[in-house]
Amino acid sequence: MKSDNDFEPIDLSKLPLHVAIIMDGNGRWAKKKLKNRIEGHKKGADTVRDIVTAAGEIGIGILTLYAFSIENWQRPKTEVNALMKLLENFFISEKDNIVKNNVKLQVIGQVWRLPKNVQTLVKELTAHTKENTGLILNLALSYGGREDILSAFKKIIKKIDRNKLKADEINEGTISSHLYTAGLSDPDLLIRTGGEMRVSNFLLWQIAYSELYISKILWPDFNKEEFLEIIGEFQLRERRFGRIAE
Ligand code: FPP
Repeated sequence: MKSDNDFEPIDLSKLPLHVAIIMDGNGRWAKKKLKNRIEGHKKGADTVRDIVTAAGEIGIGILTLYAFSIENWQRPKTEVNALMKLLENFFISEKDNIVKNNVKLQVIGQVWRLPKNVQTLVKELTAHTKENTGLILNLALSYGGREDILSAFKKIIKKIDRNKLKADEINEGTISSHLYTAGLSDPDLLIRTGGEMRVSNFLLWQIAYSELYISKILWPDFNKEEFLEIIGEFQLRERRFGRIAE
């Protein structure tokens, strides 16, 4: 039977507020097709566009995408440069769509390590979309979960040193509010594509109670249909947050 929304089998009234995605499998996708790894990343960037659009359409609040980890700096220079170029192209080509679709762009990670032109585009687009009220697109760039926690610690310790905070006043909320994700709720759902069963230093503090979903599909082949399927599966899960079922 056809439902009266286009997004069967999901219930639009019970959407995860925050979805985080580890976009993995670009390299394997390219290898399977006897292409260069960079071709996999290019196709992966197309998937980013599709999933950002889908998330905005169905009404997801926050979409956090792991686009470049701190560890990724250790990849060959040609691959790192190609990924930076793809980011640059993404910010230029998607600017109008992002603005038109009321998307608010945010970035988490060591933005200062990115090439200057990418930093400028990030700064411009985050400032330009600051007041937007639709999907928050949160891109993790030069991001590492341990570095996120470490930099939060440093910020907190500085405040203690300057007598702006007392050590025994620190609680979990203090740490959350000094992470790159300050002000954002923790992810309800963490998706990893490409079939690997690990969290790869992504949002370590923030995923304490996230529901995990590993998709075998490689990121360049991931699509709206699979995204909706996973959200449907999320809606069937019982989240107990360490408590017992009601
Ligand atoms: C992991 O695949 C993916 C990355 C390291 C980069 C993700 C980048 C994109 C999806 C494109 C650019 C992003 C934006 C926001 C425009 P992998 O190379 O580790 O794949 P493998 O495990 O199959 O080798």
